[in-house]
Amino acid sequence: MSESLPPFRAPTGTHDVLAPESALWEGLVASFAEFAYRYGFSLVMTPIFEDVGVFTRGIGEESEVFQKEMYIFEDRGERRFALRPEGTASVVRAFVQHQPTTPWKAWYITPAFRYERPQAGRYRQHYQLGVEVLGTDDPAVDVEVIALANNFYAAIGLKNLRLLINSMGDEECRPRYIELLSEYLEAHQMELCDEHREMWRQNPLRVLDCKKEACIRVTSGAPMLIDHLCDNCRAHFDQVIAGLSAIGVESFLSPRLVRGFDYYTRTTFEFIAESLGNAQNAVGGGGRYDKLSEQLGGKATSGIGFGSGIERLLLARQAEGVVAPLLKRTLDVFVIDTTGGDSVTLLIEQLRAAGIATDRAYDQRSMKAQMRVADKSGARWALLVGPEELLAGEVTIRDLRSQDFEQTQQRVARSQTVSTVAHLVTK
Ligand code: HAM
Repeated sequence: MSESLPPFRAPTGTHDVLAPESALWEGLVASFAEFAYRYGFSLVMTPIFEDVGVFTRGIGEESEVFQKEMYIFEDRGERRFALRPEGTASVVRAFVQHQPTTPWKAWYITPAFRYERPQAGRYRQHYQLGVEVLGTDDPAVDVEVIALANNFYAAIGLKNLRLLINSMGDEECRPRYIELLSEYLEAHQMELCDEHREMWRQNPLRVLDCKKEACIRVTSGAPMLIDHLCDNCRAHFDQVIAGLSAIGVESFLSPRLVRGFDYYTRTTFEFIAESLGNAQNAVGGGGRYDKLSEQLGGKATSGIGFGSGIERLLLARQAEGVVAPLLKRTLDVFVIDTTGGDSVTLLIEQLRAAGIATDRAYDQRSMKAQMRVADKSGARWALLVGPEELLAGEVTIRDLRSQDFEQTQQRVARSQTVSTVAHLVTK
């Protein structure tokens, strides 16, 4: 006898999603799609891998994601590709390529790949729901995108979220600010964490985001970009804040919020789930990227969007004790056929055509074995077709929840079965 081979497992930091959990995923995606359409977005799908340049130019070679977390590979044609670590750069690449009319509002669901140290809420493959709007820098769009996120989170039952907001300025005020910050960091470089003592010059803004005690201490006295915005960026930011408060969305200014990608300009924001404690608690984040289209070879086009991790949304919901309204993903009917033939095939097709979720047993198993499968299937009703029913042209309908099914079951004519069952399942 051959020895059995060790079974494969999903790669570290990835996960399979099976029922019943998958119904929660479906529910989230359906709800997000519903909100996206309500706000005027349509679905965009882009390839899961792109020329690596889409990400070097988009998210930045100095970004932590690019330096440490990218899945980069060469294909058989010796072209360098990367699995996408996030959705925005690919969507903007598609915008540049196809030049749809603006404003272009697109939503997406996508896996994203980052070689991170796996832990709860942080995976090497996670899934994001997101939207992007290209073609306008109107602060009303910033407000709309944040409102969409906010309303979606509320609709899926999350109550304990905090919206952090900041501005990353633009090409006028940010370089001036980076000089100021650099002077400050230079004067304090010996007090920075080990990594930033050496590396802060590569990307001084990143030091503001460093979670190490030493950097937090040093940067608490650092100049903050929000205090050094140019007039245009200041006015834009003020309009976003005013717009949010006009629709009753509470936001908290967070001057350290620089986010992980270089493409951000002006508005940046993050939704923090307070129920998740301090680690991996961002359930969504986004912002403006008014230069990204040009960086990817397109015309100057403003853009803004956000992405939300499905896994983190589910963790936050669990932490808040939200009982999710499950999409109905159970069977209505299980058909048991002991006549050994194909006599029920047509009936099953007719039931399904009438919108009744129907399943059956296979392999011509015994009545007892089929009943066991029916009980486990979650279906409320069993339809039985044995030799007797076959002869009489009838079907027995049994309520699987009834304690006394002999009393409650009924025989109906085959021609009446679909309408009778349809009536029962909608009762
Ligand atoms: P991000 O903040 O890197 O932004 O990711 C968005 C969300 O994806 C995070 O808030 C988090 O919920 C989830 N997430 C990120 N990394 C992981 C991970 N390793 N494991 C589990 N969940 C994760 C972006 O990706 C931008 N593209 C968002 C955006 C859209 N900005 C403008 N438009």
